Amino acid sequence: MNSPAAKQQFGVGVQSLEQNERSIKVTWTDGKVSTFHYLWLRDNCPSGFHPSTQERLFNLTTVSEDIHALSSSFDESSLYISWSELEHKSVYRLEWLYENAYSPDFKATSESPVTPWGTEIMESLYEVQYDDLMREDSALYEWLSAVKKWGISYVRNVPCTDQGVIDVANRIAFLRETNFGKVFDVQSKPNPINNAYTSEALPLHIDLINQETPPGYQFLHCLINDSKGGESTYADGFKIIEELKATSPGSFQILSTVTVPMRYHDGETDIQTRHPIINVDEDGRLVELRYSPHLVSTFDMDEDMMDRYYRAFRELMVLINDDRFVISIKMKAGDLCIFDNRRVMHGRNAFEASGSHSGSRHLRGCYVDRSEFESKLRVLNRHYGKAPSQR
Ligand code: OGA
Ligand code: ZN
Repeated sequence: MNSPAAKQQFGVGVQSLEQNERSIKVTWTDGKVSTFHYLWLRDNCPSGFHPSTQERLFNLTTVSEDIHALSSSFDESSLYISWSELEHKSVYRLEWLYENAYSPDFKATSESPVTPWGTEIMESLYEVQYDDLMREDSALYEWLSAVKKWGISYVRNVPCTDQGVIDVANRIAFLRETNFGKVFDVQSKPNPINNAYTSEALPLHIDLINQETPPGYQFLHCLINDSKGGESTYADGFKIIEELKATSPGSFQILSTVTVPMRYHDGETDIQTRHPIINVDEDGRLVELRYSPHLVSTFDMDEDMMDRYYRAFRELMVLINDDRFVISIKMKAGDLCIFDNRRVMHGRNAFEASGSHSGSRHLRGCYVDRSEFESKLRVLNRHYGKAPSQR
């Protein structure tokens, strides 16, 4: 008793249905075809979700794995299924089915939400004024979209107070606390517990690779930078990995599969993990780079891998220090840099510590994790536009 194909509000309707043994095939009026498996449909029946929380209440084990449709039909807004078990009936909104379809016609490669960069980014480095960011949600949305895309941005004229960096980060979400505290002060200190708290140069690195999950977005707010030297350096790890994959696929393969130990330790802590240095998801998309010359620990892979691994690692190091990828910026008081700490490496040139010379340097930093950043971006996207696709 299917009604004739009809367009509905979102612009596409059902052309026809075909009930098969374990799934139903939907041909849409735009010509696309999708298969929905019975277990998937039953598990996603809207009646199985709490009306307020929208979280699932349904327990899949209350039906058999052979549950199937006894009958099915559609109209301009919904698909209707009567099930073989418990006399249950389901109603699905067509728009919801279309949005959640998982067949090849719907898996066309979506545009990547990130744009890898080399030194050319200096011509268009995204900047926002602190006042705009704090006042306007639309400015916040534009900024987060840019940070998602480029993995780096500067905020200008952030008040030079202890609270400045926290206020900017809290515009997105709560902070990610680490063994260095909720907020950390990067200054040359007596008896430093890490290289950042010296006046030494810091080679490009990702912070805290020794954590099970390194912090997502890092905020570094410049309070004072009167020293000679101390320029900040950055390079896009994703751009460098793309280059490595293209020019040396064997090295990419090794660095993305072989795990290495990563460690930070001091008088109070000994935080260790092991991971590959390059991490990709099941579709081969880059998730993170975990590169830090000072936190990567003593390699311990099998004898027959050690030499190959070192050669691959060295190749990556050469690329990381290639002039085509590294940018350098001298921060001034009131500047704040945000960057995706699991993608964009940061470092600094050595500076002259106060005491021996008149200059001094003080950055104050904190982190917000990726989950919170992306949540904020999705919520703002409901009001301000179309966020890059995120899985
Ligand atoms: C750090 C760091 C950079 C700088 O604290 O982890 O990399 O410019 N600091 O001092
Ligand atoms: Zn760092």
